Amino acid sequence: MNILAIETSCDETGLSIIKAEGDIENPQFEIVDEIVATQIETHREWGGVVPHLARREHDKNLPVLLGKLFDNLEDIQPDDIERLAVTVGPGLDPCLWSGINYTKKVHKSNFPDSELAGANHLEGHLYSFFLSNKKDSTFSVPYLDELFPAVQLVVSGGHTIIVLMKSLIDWEILGSTRDDAAGESFDKVARMLDLSYPGGPEIQKWAENGSPDSIDFPRPMIDSENYDFSFSGLKTAVLYYLKENVQKKSEEDLKFDMDDSKKSDVAASFQAAVVDTLASKTIKAAKKYGAKSIMLSGGVAANKLLRETLKLRSQSLGVKFLTPPIKYNTDNGSIIAIASYINCLSDKSYDLESQPNLGL
Ligand code: KG4
Ligand code: ZN
Repeated sequence: MNILAIETSCDETGLSIIKAEGDIENPQFEIVDEIVATQIETHREWGGVVPHLARREHDKNLPVLLGKLFDNLEDIQPDDIERLAVTVGPGLDPCLWSGINYTKKVHKSNFPDSELAGANHLEGHLYSFFLSNKKDSTFSVPYLDELFPAVQLVVSGGHTIIVLMKSLIDWEILGSTRDDAAGESFDKVARMLDLSYPGGPEIQKWAENGSPDSIDFPRPMIDSENYDFSFSGLKTAVLYYLKENVQKKSEEDLKFDMDDSKKSDVAASFQAAVVDTLASKTIKAAKKYGAKSIMLSGGVAANKLLRETLKLRSQSLGVKFLTPPIKYNTDNGSIIAIASYINCLSDKSYDLESQPNLGL
């Protein structure tokens, strides 16, 4: 089945065409063509994503990217698209509408015979582990039945969730954040350190020259009985540390002035606290539920220390560890196309309207 997917839930405009085949026991995916336009530069000067600017960029990008996507294709023409998928949530309402309205429009004009389908952004991340295993030109996991039960940490700018996957299509949320998402806390702490948006990659870069043990930041809820997180308290601990130990740079914006070595130490110690908390809870869930694999997805999964820590701890536990290459952890159309194929195999559908708070 040829699927074209469109993703506009936040600040990346992502389009992808995949060929999907196989049944729910062993789906296989070939990425025919994909394209992502990031809006990071647009939002950087505001220190975060501005929804109406993001919508404007999506509106502008979509027709250009769709043209480019088909430009170099010989094998597949618009008539060959059998399923047209678009993210309907969760995400920023104006951005979701941009993608949905555009998809409805091109469905009529360019792909009238395709089946129009809404897709869940979080399922995109959840199924992104398929992209961790490529053979020839196809992504698949031939040992799929050996992965479940799996415990997956979905960790992004908007979500921090631990999911118990009993099978590919049957899962349960074990815990999630009670306040800030992990990515959000990276972004907020980066702002205090006067680093640019998005904060995650900046903190990672500065942390490379710092000592993770130099400041003893808390690991909130690490010993609690449940699988929930609270990253707002950690952010506040960093704020108090900075207030007590360094000069404020600007009063109203809570930015602090410090030398490079102090900045590196704060970044490294903060990153260590987040990673330790995320990894410990994930491993605890894997032990409790006898997981055969641990999976990691979402924008924060691009973090090197988090990837390495979870990989090592999975190995010590004797379970498989799966995470896609970094480019498929950040938002893109290919993960949405994969989720839509699995929806098709399992007869699951979503209404074609913006659902900003859609869950898993
Ligand atoms: O999944 P994503 O692209 O968008 C959402 O759906 O939210 O995630 C974006 C988040 C941002 O908060 C960003 O700071 C964080 O992922 N991020 C990172 C890294 N790269 C991106 N956080 C920590 N370390 C990184 N290397
Ligand atoms: Zn995402």
